[in-house]
Amino acid sequence: MTAATLLIRHGRIATMTGAQNAPGEGPLGLVEDGLVAIAGEQIIHVEPEATARVRKGKAKPPPGEGVEIEVAPNAVEIDAQGQLVTPGFVEPHSHLLFAGDRANEFSQRLAGATYAEIGQAGGGIVATVKSTREATDEDLVLAARERLGRLARAGVTTAEVKTGYALSVEGELRLLKLIREAANGAPCDVVPTLLALHAVPPGMESRAWVESVLKELLPQAAADKLAHGVDAFCEKGAFGTDECRTILEAGVRGGLVGHLHADQLTNSGGAALAAATGCASADHLEKTGSVGIAAMAKSGTVAVLLPLAAWSLKDPPAQAPPFLKAGVPVALGGNLNPGTQRMESVSLLLAAGCVLAGMTPAQALYGMTAAAARALLLQESRGKLVPGLRGDIVVHGTKDPAHLPYHGAVEHARVVVRRGKVELDLRKEPLRCG
Ligand code: NIG
Repeated sequence: MTAATLLIRHGRIATMTGAQNAPGEGPLGLVEDGLVAIAGEQIIHVEPEATARVRKGKAKPPPGEGVEIEVAPNAVEIDAQGQLVTPGFVEPHSHLLFAGDRANEFSQRLAGATYAEIGQAGGGIVATVKSTREATDEDLVLAARERLGRLARAGVTTAEVKTGYALSVEGELRLLKLIREAANGAPCDVVPTLLALHAVPPGMESRAWVESVLKELLPQAAADKLAHGVDAFCEKGAFGTDECRTILEAGVRGGLVGHLHADQLTNSGGAALAAATGCASADHLEKTGSVGIAAMAKSGTVAVLLPLAAWSLKDPPAQAPPFLKAGVPVALGGNLNPGTQRMESVSLLLAAGCVLAGMTPAQALYGMTAAAARALLLQESRGKLVPGLRGDIVVHGTKDPAHLPYHGAVEHARVVVRRGKVELDLRKEPLRCG
């Protein structure tokens, strides 16, 4: 029998093993007054306390019928005191490696300019490309680590990070390497995605850039194992469906996990393209219609909704219920970037998932755990609390899953466990949720 090295006891455990579209708290798969046992990096038991027979070292297990759990003599034990215990949050969509800011564009949009108009006038993504190209490696890594640190404090144990602010072959490879550097020593795991088709590089034809990405950048990134995923921005003024298809197909063929910025500003067939190219996720989806939803349901593509970005752009947010009704899992992404979304609060994102995107608190929680892991094709290792998955776990400062979005913009994580080790223990900073 493998001995547990970490135990979380007396938790209200949301295993996230229910169906996302089940009613009420169904998606949570709750185990009341339960324990989670981890050996090394992996969960080995999730049991109600009433049926667990915990045996410390060579001591005899308590009598009874339940599952015997051997605990290593120096094991760490955390008493959750009845509070909510969930899988570590997975952030499936971020652009958090960048330099500079675009607060000026935020003000311009508040005064009536649109995101597309600002881009056409020379702002938008290419403005950040300029500042990111000019920044030193040290500054970029430091800023990314700070942002990762804030996510981790909120309970994020895995964060996806995209490139897309260098837009040259060498520059994008540089960003992939810097993401790896930022990940080194960061308090959460980092999953790098190559987003070379983010904007057409200034002074270059779109066709020439797609060709360089296909012939030089993708093969180099794959050979050096720098990226986990590949992404593209399919939109008027960015890249067309044929260009995106070329890069997604090549990336997916090369073993990368496909994602697509789809139907954000216009319904450009992005959701259907993501489905047809075997993408794990289609992201944004503000303008997706029933054809795109049906295609995603058929292909098993996860919908990653980014309600804080729609809010920040003052656009109507994508609605979760039509996707859920069609059987499409719905994940929530923070989309941290300098242009469309600069707010950094996980509970605010959960609140936006509920208030703006029409999810229940349990569905939103599923969207930041099980569905988000699936969006990154990491469902075999994280996103649920079941034996065999990684010990990435959050003990929250509340019993009630609804409290997380209800009491938004306050982070509720009290203990964060990553890979079976306590990454953060904030229990000395009491959180009064009442
Ligand atoms: O997902 N829409 C494209 N990409 C980002 C915005 C990036 C930026 O404006 O810098 C997004 O919203």
